[in-house]
Parts: sequence; C-alpha cells; structure tokens
Amino acid sequence: MINVTANRDVIKFNHPLCELKNVVKTYKSGEIICPVDGVSLRCEAGDFISIEGPSGIGKSTLLYLVGGLLQADSGEILVDATNLQSISEHDLTILRATKIGFIFQETNLFQALTVGENLAFPLKIINKYTKTKLGKADINQKVEAYLEKLGIGDRRDFLPHQLSVGQRRRLVVARALIKEPLLVLADEPTNDLDDFWASEVIKLLQPVPARGGALMMVTHNMLWAERANCRYTMSHGILAPK
Ligand SMILES: Nc1ncnc2c1ncn2[C@@H]1O[C@H](COP(=O)(O)OP(=O)(O)O)[C@@H](O)[C@H]1O
Ligand SMILES: [Mg+2]
Repeated sequence: MINVTANRDVIKFNHPLCELKNVVKTYKSGEIICPVDGVSLRCEAGDFISIEGPSGIGKSTLLYLVGGLLQADSGEILVDATNLQSISEHDLTILRATKIGFIFQETNLFQALTVGENLAFPLKIINKYTKTKLGKADINQKVEAYLEKLGIGDRRDFLPHQLSVGQRRRLVVARALIKEPLLVLADEPTNDLDDFWASEVIKLLQPVPARGGALMMVTHNMLWAERANCRYTMSHGILAPK
C-alpha cells in the first residue's frame, strides 16, 4: 500500500512553498464565467494537497494559475515567496523551469527526441537558467537513474511512440520530477490508466513531499486523494476543505 506522508521536517522553509490569497480568474471569451472566485491556500514544504471536484469546475484553471501559466485577475500567488504577478515574463519562465514540475494531461513528450533526450531536456534548461551547471556525465547519470526507476533502462534510445501508454505517462512524470522541483502540479495524472499503471505513477510522485517538496494533485481517484494530508473540493469558485 502506498503512503504519501507529509514530512515537514525534511527542509525548513520560513515561508510557505506556495500561497494563494483571494485569487480570482474570469474567462471572458464568449459567456463570462468565473471558475476561480476567491481561492486562498497555503501549501507548505512536505504537503500533499489533493483537489477534487466535478468536471468543468475550475481545477485545471487553478493549477495553471499556480504554475504561472495563466494570469489571475486579482489576488496574489506566491511560489517560494515570489509573487508571480510582480515578476517579468523572463523571470517567470525561469521560476517555472527551475521550481515547478508540471504533469498536465496535455503535457506532450517531444516526439522527435528519444526517451533519454526527453529526460535530459529539463536539466539542460536548468543549466541555461541557473548558476548550477550540470556536466554531461551528471546529466547522464540522472537520466540513467530515472530510466532504471521507470523500469525502461533498455529503452533510452527509443522514441516516445515506441513505449506503451503506461510507460509514456511515467516518462512524462519522470521528466517533471528529474529536476527535483519544489512544487509539483499534477492534473489527473492517473485518470486514463489502469490500477497497475496508476500505482506506478503514484510511486514516482510519492517521494516529492517526503523530500520536502510539495505535491498539488487534481484527482478523481479516492485511493490517492485519501493519502493527501490536505484534501480540498472545488466548488463555486472556491476550495473547501474536505
Ligand atoms: N481558455 C479558456 N477560455 C474560456 N473558458 C475556459 C478556458 N479554459 C477553461 N474554460 C472554462 O472554465 C471552466 C473550468 O475549466 P477547467 O479549469 O478546465 O475545469 P476542470 O479542470 O475542473 O474540469 C469550464 O467551464 C471551461 O469550459
Ligand atoms: Mg481539468
């Protein structure tokens, strides 16, 4: 049985990893709707937050806002004490590339790059944007370690389409995690997988809170939601604790 435990003692931060203060987002194309209507949330290092709620209620919108992929109309979103609304596009790109791991349903792999190259990509981006310079050997070592974890050590030079659906999904998750982001945003990462592959995906996500990061996951899977230490339901534009 998989247990995703909160472990707030691993890394001590003197601020929340992520904080939302009265965030509002309205879509004005066509019918005006306000799926996020005053959401406040504190997410600490070691938290596993689950977000449940019916389809079309605004869960993905909320994750896009937290990830700095959508701009809020009002309110504040802070990631690692940086207010997303007050930084330049360039700094926002760096923050996303270095601190946030995205596992979204639309997250496509680079179809023209091999499995190994897909995994190495986020590390090369980190090299581009930060002072930490990982050498070729370091990158190789990390990629090898993840391929072993995924149980596809022999498929490094395959293209994504040559993997099974479950293997591909785990590769998407591994690509989000390989840079060890502070905050991992996962949007229904297991909904189209059978129980076996779903639990394989969760096994990859399990260490995120344990190492002092935070995991925010939209899920309809009660088995996983029950393991969250903060469980919310989204309705009428706000998050209600469960
Ligand atoms: N870019 C957009 N423009 C206009 N409406 C959108 C856009 N993205 C999502 N919506 C609408 O906002 C609502 C919430 O969508 P979403 O956040 O995807 O919900 P969920 O993830 O809970 O299914 C839905 O009614 C959806 O149609
Ligand atoms: Mg959604």
